[in-house]
Amino acid sequence: MDRIIIQGGAELSGAIPIAGAKNACLTLMPATLLSDEPLTLTNAPRLSDIRTMTELLVSLGAEVSALNDGKVIAMSSHNADNHLAHYDIVRKMRASNLVLGPLLARHGRAEVSLPGGCAIGARPMDLHITALEALGAEIELRDGYLHAKAPTGLKGAVHELGFASVGATENMVMAATLAKGTTVLKNAAREPEIVDLVACLRAMGAQIAGEGTSTIEIQGVDRLHGATHPVVTDRIELGTYMLAPAITGGEVELLGGKMHLVESFAEKLHDAGIDVTETKAGLAVKRANGRVNAVNVVTEPFPGFPTDLQAQMMALMCTADGVSVLEERIFENRFMHAPELVRMGARIDVQGGHATVTGVDKLRGAPVMATDLRASVSLILAALAAEGETIVNRVYHLDRGYERVEDKLSACGAQIERVKSDG
Ligand code: EPZ
Repeated sequence: MDRIIIQGGAELSGAIPIAGAKNACLTLMPATLLSDEPLTLTNAPRLSDIRTMTELLVSLGAEVSALNDGKVIAMSSHNADNHLAHYDIVRKMRASNLVLGPLLARHGRAEVSLPGGCAIGARPMDLHITALEALGAEIELRDGYLHAKAPTGLKGAVHELGFASVGATENMVMAATLAKGTTVLKNAAREPEIVDLVACLRAMGAQIAGEGTSTIEIQGVDRLHGATHPVVTDRIELGTYMLAPAITGGEVELLGGKMHLVESFAEKLHDAGIDVTETKAGLAVKRANGRVNAVNVVTEPFPGFPTDLQAQMMALMCTADGVSVLEERIFENRFMHAPELVRMGARIDVQGGHATVTGVDKLRGAPVMATDLRASVSLILAALAAEGETIVNRVYHLDRGYERVEDKLSACGAQIERVKSDG
């Protein structure tokens, strides 16, 4: 397994291009199943999760081609006649569950393996199931698979989600585009990735209103046509790299960064003493006066502080002046980066959903273990500021969500290299 080795201490300066959003692309790709005409995505990120979704869609009978070095994904589902999403693929990535709604809409039935838990929590699918049952689907859990059918097709309905689940919102919206009649989804998630999905579905002929608010209304249509759609900028990659100059000092411009994607995060950085300035090309980030203040963080659904930036923010708080409390309200087990940061000299006390971080002057490099996608990049950020050498193991977690992280950071002066291993 590859490792990443970092010699910490260098201030960063330069520019980092931000790619298309992994979590938008992973819901846009299954939308190909809603039409027999070609769906092409541009500005796609080059990530292993995208390759996993490609493998899944091909197993369902879709044609998927990665063009232009992977930045363009050309799909066609006119021959997609398989409605079984197999465990061997689904177990690799929870987002595989986003084929459930499209398969039901396309075939009137679907068999999708339960994704199983993952490092950060059990991640059940009850909200997806009750939402699709509201459209008339009959869904049964048997032998580790969800067996779903809608023999007389899906029918529009009014449904309120028990929690503003991103995935349940996406499955529901995609299924409802081809249901008979009107669907009103209440307590819908408001993430920018959902806004991007709706823009793509609308380009395909769907009739949808209210995206980005808690109530989305979908008027079912008989069929959807093809489209070409640019994947929205990745706000989590953006937020992650905004923290690089914050933790090392120096100034970095994030190319393609848009303030509206990271509003609450940028406000929190401002409270911590970090300047975020809009430029023609994106966002410029630097410390306002040399030090970082400890701030408290509570993760919430969008537009609140993103849970996917909690681990990275914790790394910054490890060397801030004072004590900060990070409360994780979205997932039940998302502090696995804490013990690894402690190995680097951080002072962190985790009690249930709260992590109390007491800032130290300096972290020290150490061998550490990546446990999940966002935890792994939090260790990279800490290593950039630490004294000495850090070796991050199991970087396959990193490659799921970050393109060529060592190239992007070394271009700004970081001493970082990937050591390939044949193991
Ligand atoms: C999406 O996951 C993202 N993944 C996650 O990003 C992100 O952390 C999460 O939304 C929250 O913003 C993709 O978009 C591919 P949820 P999703 O349904 O849809 C519980 C990353 O690092 N829940 O909003 O699975 C669930 O257990 C990943 O890129 C139920 O209880 O998130 C969790 O505690 C990690 N029942 C909470 O809701 C359900 O049926 C939020 O989950 C569904 C979810």
